[in-house]
Amino acid sequence: MIQKINAIQSDLKTQLQQTKNQADLESARVAFLGKKGFITELMQSLKDMSLEEKKEFGPKLQALKQEAEALINQHKETLIKQEAATAQQRQQNFDVTASLPSAHVGHLHPYTQIIEEIETIFLSMGYEVWDGPEFESDFYNFTALNIPKDHPARDMYDTFWTNKENHVLRTHTSNVQIRTMQNTKPPLAGIATGRTYRHEAVDASHDFMFMQCEGMMIDKGVTVAHLFAAAQTFLKTLFNKKELDIRIRPGFFPFVEPGFEIDMRCVFCKSGCSVCKKSTWIEVFPGGMIHPNVLKAGGINPEEYTGFAFGFGLTRLAMLRYGIDDIRLFHSGKIKFLEQF
Ligand code: DAH
Repeated sequence: MIQKINAIQSDLKTQLQQTKNQADLESARVAFLGKKGFITELMQSLKDMSLEEKKEFGPKLQALKQEAEALINQHKETLIKQEAATAQQRQQNFDVTASLPSAHVGHLHPYTQIIEEIETIFLSMGYEVWDGPEFESDFYNFTALNIPKDHPARDMYDTFWTNKENHVLRTHTSNVQIRTMQNTKPPLAGIATGRTYRHEAVDASHDFMFMQCEGMMIDKGVTVAHLFAAAQTFLKTLFNKKELDIRIRPGFFPFVEPGFEIDMRCVFCKSGCSVCKKSTWIEVFPGGMIHPNVLKAGGINPEEYTGFAFGFGLTRLAMLRYGIDDIRLFHSGKIKFLEQF
């Protein structure tokens, strides 16, 4: 029995020396002091012993049990301290300046960026932002805009007709004009940006789908001076110029009378470059005074109200603004292109 007690004592000591974490320590505790542990079993064997033996080994086994418990508890404390020290050291060695592998962050498409910029400028000028459908009826896209059926002006637009009778993919954002007039009473001022469609052969400067921005203002006493001022203020702000000359030429659009082509001084050169084709002027801003027939179609009395409208190529403006020379890049999905913005 004495031998057994000594063997258990030394076994426990060696095992504790090898125990480096709390989970292993718990296993060791179960092995020695658990229900079927070595020490527990030894103590259970007492009941089969003679009175003499009980007297002799009882206290020894009790002492063994107490010593084992003490050793295990002691070791547990040591382990807790060690673990805390390692955790602290790990924290101290944590390098907050270490560089992480860079995450790939997406960003807004150049179209979205310029639309947000344009909307912000016009909002700051007191305009609203309107919206309208891309799938449109003949009425809103043509007839109400003073382009009746069989009128030669329809030839200006290479239209995508659809299976639904008298419905087209809108050829311009001007469809928003009539819809807004029908819903809103003057005075009114606002813009609408969005996709437009034409049956074009695609090349570097033409696409079958492109973006436009339509704008209009209707009130009593609105004149061409208001149109020119709006065009100049907008272009100056967009191209970040303190001063920016504009030039006005006559232009024909059935929905305005008189109609104009508004050019701006080239923002890239002083004496002629490839963007302005050596002329120092860039054609950017078609517009005019809303035709009385159009006001009537929108339910507004042309005797009482006048208004101006404009509709510029937002795609073209984005190309000018960002120096993009191929329209096809916008929808190419090329990451190398998109990453530049
Ligand atoms: N809708 C015309 C186009 O796509 C652009 C335009 C010109 C719109 C003059 C206007 C305007 O509102 O007054 O070619």
